Amino acid sequence: MELPKHPHHSLFIFVFGLVLVFPSALSWKDAVTHVHQFVIQEASVKRLCKTQHVMTVNGMYPGPTLEIKNGDTLSVKVINKGKYNVTIHWHGVRQMRTGWADGPEFVTQCPIRPGGSYTYRFTVRGQEGTLWWHAHSSWLRATVYGALLIQPREGTNFPFAKPDRQSTLLLGEWWNANPVDVVREATRTGAAPNISDAYTINGQPGDLYNCSTQDTVVVPISSGETNLLRVVNSAMNQPLFFTIANHKFTVVGADASYVKPFTTSVLMLGPGQTTDVLISGDQPAGRYYMAARAYQSAQNAPFDNTTTTAILEYKSAACSSGNSSCSLTNPIMPRLPAFNDTPTVTAFSTSFRSRERALVPAQIDESLFFTVGLGLNNCPPNFNGTRFTASMNNVSFSLPSNFSLLQAHIQGIRGVFTSDFPAAPPRVFDYTGNVSRSLWQPATGTKLYRLKYGSRVQVVLQDTSIVTPENHPIHLHGYDFYIIAEGFGNYNPKTDSSKFNLVDPPLRNTAAVPVGGWAVIRFVADNPGVWLMHCHLDVHITWGLAMAFLVEDGVGKLEAIEPPPEDLPICS
Ligand code: C2O
Repeated sequence: MELPKHPHHSLFIFVFGLVLVFPSALSWKDAVTHVHQFVIQEASVKRLCKTQHVMTVNGMYPGPTLEIKNGDTLSVKVINKGKYNVTIHWHGVRQMRTGWADGPEFVTQCPIRPGGSYTYRFTVRGQEGTLWWHAHSSWLRATVYGALLIQPREGTNFPFAKPDRQSTLLLGEWWNANPVDVVREATRTGAAPNISDAYTINGQPGDLYNCSTQDTVVVPISSGETNLLRVVNSAMNQPLFFTIANHKFTVVGADASYVKPFTTSVLMLGPGQTTDVLISGDQPAGRYYMAARAYQSAQNAPFDNTTTTAILEYKSAACSSGNSSCSLTNPIMPRLPAFNDTPTVTAFSTSFRSRERALVPAQIDESLFFTVGLGLNNCPPNFNGTRFTASMNNVSFSLPSNFSLLQAHIQGIRGVFTSDFPAAPPRVFDYTGNVSRSLWQPATGTKLYRLKYGSRVQVVLQDTSIVTPENHPIHLHGYDFYIIAEGFGNYNPKTDSSKFNLVDPPLRNTAAVPVGGWAVIRFVADNPGVWLMHCHLDVHITWGLAMAFLVEDGVGKLEAIEPPPEDLPICS
């Protein structure tokens, strides 16, 4: 059913609470519309012995968990009562024909100004597992984020035995500062932003940090039961290892697609990625640390080398309920990989296979090759030194400020972007070798790459060693893509295409491109709109490691983007 559009809407919400579920009378059988209200507001949050005033949704840090079924519709009214411009992005949601609800600032909408509001309305179809949502404006996502859980479609089940319990673990990053100030200072000086002061699990740093023990997150388990853990890397700038003492993971999903189950004792997630794992309560009843810390592939770059923990606690060993057999000993600590343990990352990331035979396009209409990496800009004369920058194919992406790219495309507004993003780097060089300083400074531009509706696209994502090679989590909005191969060094089309997996490659929305290496992705451009592709290390998007695809409408009405919602924020 449609929501009533009359002035008593807010009263209606007030009377029935903030979360309403309407049975839908529309065609999708048993699908429902979930109505939520997100009030962006400042809240004081005390971590590491200090109080910070941070932006939140509804005063919560992390924000509310949304739980739906595959096939359901979400209608989320975002009301900005904070002091910054804000947008919300639904990370990994395909947004079929609803690009106006995708959220990246100046890409699919202008920001919601303080005092303004916007309702994101979209349907989730064909995706099951774990996604998440986050602010897509400045560095607000450091505290404005939460989980989006997608349970199996009505009348269906998991493709594995139903877990006895489900727990969500959002890995985050915390500064003893306002994150917006951290990035502003970096932009002012051109240097790298300050590293974070802690990592967090569900907003809590855990036992290994000052003033944090009391609030350490406890995840319950009973002997003999199976728990589904939904792990999300919502950290700003750091790929993370994650492990649990004495327990093995069975990986069953990633980025809201099921995978062929495989076991491992450690996960690595780039920012933006999610991994669903099963664990069994098959160890002696007790308390076991779950821990996350950095996977650091960049060389000579400072990073936060601390460790966040939560406690996996067997119910019969819980200390909370006056239990006499309560274990007073410290939880068992797992061994984590070394910070630079790339072989462990490779073993993990090459274990993924999609569960079903994949619908990966065998023929390609667009064969693209994008370098991804850092750079250095020389400062103007009479300022000394250099500033960090980053680029794809030597273009450092710059967002417009007067129109969103999608609005400019649909309304035919000229001068906002150009459609000449290069299909290959302007110069061929030894990407992962010793790169001449003359190739370190990219050009700036707002360049899009145009795709015909339905075109079959392959992109080789090639890391460069400019400044330093690094594992870049490359995220594409509006699509899932198959990762058909990855490797180290320079991609070689003659020899590396023999490694393509066109049978059961994993379907992802974020690819962790190997440090000093490459990944090949494929997708069919069946979702019209303007879709950002960027490194999900926020510091890199700040520096311009992004581009956008413009996917044209097809011929039929159902192959065109829907008209913009009436309340779409415009710039002015
Ligand atoms: Cu999760 Cu453009 O981001």
